[in-house]
Amino acid sequence: MPYPNSPFEEAFNAELIISLNKEKCDKTISNGAYEKTLSWLCSTPKITSYRVNTLQTNPGVVLEAIKEHLCQVLGEIPFTVEAFNEKKSGVAVEVKETISGCPPLGDKFLPTGWALLQNLPSIICVKALNPKPNETIIDLCASPGNKTTHIAELMQNKGILVAIDKTSKKVAQLNKRCEDFGAKVSIFQADSIKIIVDLDNGVQRNIKEGPPFLPETFDRILLDAPCSALGKRPQLANMITKKVLRSYVPLQKKLFETAVRLLKINGTMVYSTCTISLAENEGVVAWALRNFKCLKLIKPSVYLGGPGWEGTSLTEQERCCVQRFGPEQEVDSVGFFFACFIKEASL
Ligand SMILES: C[S@@+](CC[C@H](N)C(=O)[O-])C[C@H]1O[C@@H](n2cnc3c(N)ncnc32)[C@H](O)[C@@H]1O
Repeated sequence: MPYPNSPFEEAFNAELIISLNKEKCDKTISNGAYEKTLSWLCSTPKITSYRVNTLQTNPGVVLEAIKEHLCQVLGEIPFTVEAFNEKKSGVAVEVKETISGCPPLGDKFLPTGWALLQNLPSIICVKALNPKPNETIIDLCASPGNKTTHIAELMQNKGILVAIDKTSKKVAQLNKRCEDFGAKVSIFQADSIKIIVDLDNGVQRNIKEGPPFLPETFDRILLDAPCSALGKRPQLANMITKKVLRSYVPLQKKLFETAVRLLKINGTMVYSTCTISLAENEGVVAWALRNFKCLKLIKPSVYLGGPGWEGTSLTEQERCCVQRFGPEQEVDSVGFFFACFIKEASL
């Protein structure tokens, strides 16, 4: 299968990605959907989005700084910059013409900690988790901390926010991001699959001292899972192997089970990935609904993506609760997926 418009056509193993989805999802691959997906992957999203860190500055200041920078860099090239959402805490930049087709903006020209260059679906995903001040929340796969710092901001740095990542290098990145953004977070290096202890021997554990944690400890849980990252754009080459591609689902399921156990009754959890693969997205959600009867899949009030793909046991109603960001959606973003659950009873 050729990879349209890609100078690295042969390096992208499109055949593999297509065949893995095809095994489960014949309907979705019909009528040119794959060709559309592949050319979408080769292009760059038109909107560059920033999340303003309201713990340290305000959107008006960031907006002016971006405009000034764009005038210097782009000169006469037309662009729009606007603040959006109810609290105007996001900034979107649309550059109407680019010579390279690549986004001309980073975030290095802004003072550290003011704002983060962050894809829209990642921002929406944390909004859907809906963190509130004085809650107890855990981010199970947190580094480099893009979503952790957003959670801290929405909690107004009040309550307990725990962030975990597996390796010391990743934890160092996470520490730096939280420090730069003035986010109050208790950070630990651990394998999130192994952070639960069932017996407390009568001893009340201090959550801020870190894992292990007792079951039903957290009000909200973010599981932004390690994944095949096939939603990245532009993606002109991808050398992922079948073995690696298939390794994610078992890991995602183990992390998911940990999340369900750690969640309090009536607590909320969000499962997210930055991939377009059916197995890692709708597949994991369908598996979770079959295996954890205590979970209810909900449709968050913040809904910007589109419904999930057919090809798993998800019902029509369930497909409309999850949010998929891909070539089918109006929002021109990277590929992303998330689902939001409430735990209605103990496991
Ligand atoms: C998709 S990235 C998270 C991105 C992050 N949530 C953000 O928005 O900045 C997944 C992370 O999971 C971590 N990870 C993978 N397996 C893990 C495990 N068993 N326990 C904890 N972290 C793990 C990886 O090191 C990686 O940093």
